[in-house]
Amino acid sequence: MWPAPVPWIVNRGLLAAAIALVGAPPSSGQLVDPAAHTPAAAAGPDATPGAPRVVAQRDRRALERIEQPPLGLPAVPVDPDDPPTAATIVLGRKLFLDRRLSVNGTLSCAMCHVPEQGFTVNETRTAVGFEGKTLRRNSPTMLNVAYAGPFFHDGREPQLALQPIDVLTNPDEMAMPSLGAVAARVAGLAPYDELFERAFGGPPTVWGVGRALAAYLQTLISGNSPFDRWHFGGDREAMSRPAIRGFELFTGGAGCVRCHTIAGDHALLRDGAFHDTGLGRSASLARSASRSPVQVELAPGLLVPIERSVLRSVGEIPPNDLGRYELSGDPGDRWRFKTPSLRNVALTAPYMHDGSFSTLREVVEFYRLGGHPHPEIDPMMRPLELDDGQIDDLVAFLESLTGDNIDELIRDARSEPVGNPDGAPRGDLSSSVSSH
Ligand code: HEC
Ligand code: HEC
Repeated sequence: MWPAPVPWIVNRGLLAAAIALVGAPPSSGQLVDPAAHTPAAAAGPDATPGAPRVVAQRDRRALERIEQPPLGLPAVPVDPDDPPTAATIVLGRKLFLDRRLSVNGTLSCAMCHVPEQGFTVNETRTAVGFEGKTLRRNSPTMLNVAYAGPFFHDGREPQLALQPIDVLTNPDEMAMPSLGAVAARVAGLAPYDELFERAFGGPPTVWGVGRALAAYLQTLISGNSPFDRWHFGGDREAMSRPAIRGFELFTGGAGCVRCHTIAGDHALLRDGAFHDTGLGRSASLARSASRSPVQVELAPGLLVPIERSVLRSVGEIPPNDLGRYELSGDPGDRWRFKTPSLRNVALTAPYMHDGSFSTLREVVEFYRLGGHPHPEIDPMMRPLELDDGQIDDLVAFLESLTGDNIDELIRDARSEPVGNPDGAPRGDLSSSVSSH
């Protein structure tokens, strides 16, 4: 169940070259009907001559979330040359739920980003990947992921549309052997020819898979939380007394807002930067303290100490996680991880890049101690004088950050049948791999 160390840092140059081979993005106006490419046109009659297409209510609402973000959120950063359309959203939603995108037809994106579990996995500290492998990091939520770039806990991927491609060929995740195999797999599945034709005016390509998944993910916008209604909407009743006291600590003495930022007319509760809170370093030290048993999560929530010698006989201890250092090589970046948004944080346990805390209270207790202090810790991390009541207040504030449309986003995801009712689509790989 332990993953072999994998090269996590994909060579972007090679990846871009591979995408160019498999299916380049259409140059404007060639493959794509321009009318199908603007949200307004996509929400209107279909661009295909003589075949008006009715845009489902759910897709119209999905587009509205992007065009008019709810209270508390800024404009959604979409590529002006490649904005989501109803057709790309429909395609992306279907791909997100489709287990046939993994090599043996068992794993979909939605199994590690579960709609009912805050679009993450609440049950295990780190994600469980291909054939039950334990991944070393926690699944981040897909709620408001449009604002979460650069992507991954270490920010190694700047583009949302390229991120899924990393996952599809990562041997611990969807484990597809190559990008060509992804394109061939999708091309061989019945509904996709038509959905790609509608979305991009051509046959399935890997680049199209990434763009469509990004289009769907960009619709998972959720704001108008009690905090937003209180802070930006002026509704005095929207937040409880403890939550208001928690907000005062958050923006005042506890100093949280220095990293989880709030702007004048919106709040992403993230600074787009990377910090060392001491957590990664202490986990590394614990791991290299060679004698102590390793805590292994055998089932959700069931942690069992297992001797290292036993563990070595059945697998490998997951590699150290050095965070941002792994891509920059700068020693100052060791154990730095991306500041996550705190929106919907009450729904997205467990917390931190390694899922090491199960409750918000545990996270706030960690900050009370100044994180896990060491000489190079981020200077904004310092012990806080908080009594138990103030910890409760901070937790109440964090709980007031849940958006008002979560049920709608879950229903929207589940309106799509899960791909792969009939088992693994085997037999399509050998031919596709050799043909590329
Ligand atoms: C095996 C579980 C697993 C599967 C399957 C999976 N993911 Fe993830 N996802 C993760 C983990 C773990 C991370 C964080 C990895 C890291 O930081 O190195 C992640 C990160 C992401 C991120 C970055 C979010 C952020 O806030 O930076 C996006 C976007 C994403 N996944 C989308 C997808 C899509 C789309 C698919 C399907 C093609 C998918 N994931 C399939 C576990 C999974
Ligand atoms: C120095 C910058 C910094 C300060 C100050 C800070 N945070 Fe964080 N916060 C982070 C980073 C970075 C992470 C992610 C750490 C990781 O993944 O290991 C994080 C993670 C969290 C998480 C977990 C979110 C998740 O989805 O996993 C919560 C909750 C949180 N912070 C709340 C707070 C509160 C409350 C305060 C004030 C008491 C605070 N933070 C102060 C940078 C900061």
